[in-house]
Amino acid sequence: MIKFVKGDITNFKADAIVNAANSSLMGGGGVDGAIHRAGGPAILQECKAYVARHGRLPTGQAMITTAGDLPAKFVIHTVGPIYKIIRGSDDQSEKNRKTEDQRKKLRDCYINSLKLAAEKGLSSVAFPSISTGAYRYPLEEAAPIAVQAVKDFLKEPSSVKDVAFVLFNAPTYEAYKNAG
Ligand code: APR
Repeated sequence: MIKFVKGDITNFKADAIVNAANSSLMGGGGVDGAIHRAGGPAILQECKAYVARHGRLPTGQAMITTAGDLPAKFVIHTVGPIYKIIRGSDDQSEKNRKTEDQRKKLRDCYINSLKLAAEKGLSSVAFPSISTGAYRYPLEEAAPIAVQAVKDFLKEPSSVKDVAFVLFNAPTYEAYKNAG
């Protein structure tokens, strides 16, 4: 089941909450900063160990750590695409390719996070609105991509039964609710 909640994801009780991280996994602002602040140093410790072993996390990929002091059991960190306005002299097919690529990368964040949750046998996952803050992905484009990705994933049998979008402000909540 998919639900839409207006609130702070650091207070949300799910098996895993998803973090809109950056490739360094060293924390940042926005929801990344909030999760590290509320979850405590154990999360960053596991992120550092991951990067030491595997290197930076590529856009669209996901990795999982403890949730530290958060109500959730795990944090799944994923890296959204940094939105680029496709213009300039590129020919139309090149523009289309670039547009399609960033759409796919955003979709991959949701699919790969859910795959990781299923691998761990988790039942409930909560997502923030990935890439629509500092990464400037337009909300009206991102919301339908996100909701469709989750709907597509839930069509296949897996341990994941409940997915929540936890949205931090009214415009974001409305955009996702409308895409639902
Ligand atoms: N709970 C839920 N959503 C939140 C919270 C929170 N506590 N804090 C912020 N958000 C929302 C923002 O309002 C926005 O809708 O998360 C969405 C994503 O915004 P960002 O956190 O800026 O994430 P993103 O756009 O993916 O940019 C990622 O920002 O914080 C850095 O390290 C991060 O470099 C990375 C980049």
